[in-house]
Amino acid sequence: FNQNSNRLRIAMQKSGRLSQESQALLGSCGLKINLREQRLIAHVENMAIDILRVRDDDIPGLVMDGVCDLGIVGENVLEEESLQRQLDNEPCDYAVLSRLNFGGCRLSIAVQQESAYDGPASLNGKTIATTYPRLLNRYLKQQGVQARIVTLKGSVEVAPRAGLADAICDLVSTGATLEANGLKEVEVIYRSKAVLIQRKDLADAAQLKLINTLMPRINAVMQANE
Ligand code: PRP
Ligand code: ZN
Ligand code: MG
Repeated sequence: FNQNSNRLRIAMQKSGRLSQESQALLGSCGLKINLREQRLIAHVENMAIDILRVRDDDIPGLVMDGVCDLGIVGENVLEEESLQRQLDNEPCDYAVLSRLNFGGCRLSIAVQQESAYDGPASLNGKTIATTYPRLLNRYLKQQGVQARIVTLKGSVEVAPRAGLADAICDLVSTGATLEANGLKEVEVIYRSKAVLIQRKDLADAAQLKLINTLMPRINAVMQANE
């Protein structure tokens, strides 16, 4: 993995909700990827592309910092990182090349099934656990709600039972996780899908040409799956 080579660098999730479909999409576009488990970097055999397999949370930053040229990531993670970087005055430029047709989910507030809930005002003075503090904070501000936010990297759904929070704000896909933890979804604050993003200052002619070859294929795969 050479920073100075002009191979195109694509970041995708190593393991999680988006990894299978990200991999399948690139495969459908004709990339022959030799994905041996445990390898951070996979070289595409038939094109000048390297695949970097990382945590989804790291993907926006890798693209915004120009370490990777393209990334496949959920809009939720992308928007959270953008809000954080704006706050920290850090670079947060990127271009969305395509909204993909997988990875659909919603970021929702959930409370314990037995607790009374009567609109966002019910959250005043409460503690909410989340992995997305910036998105949650934006929502609470819009609603004029004053609540305390506790940031957890994982296992957010156990926070109410553990006495760490009164409510949570987490991703919901099927709803099985909420159900299994005695929680009910009360507000949807953000709807997300996977997107393909590109770093803003990409200028290498060979890399741009490769992207121009890939984009029609990606769009064709998206249409075929509709
Ligand atoms: C999300 C969320 C829940 C689960 C909800 O995790 O944190 O754990 O998905 O899905 P469900 O409604 O179908 O049960 P995700 O898979 O995105 O992993 P991560 O939190 O580790 O990124
Ligand atoms: Zn994650
Ligand atoms: Mg999770």
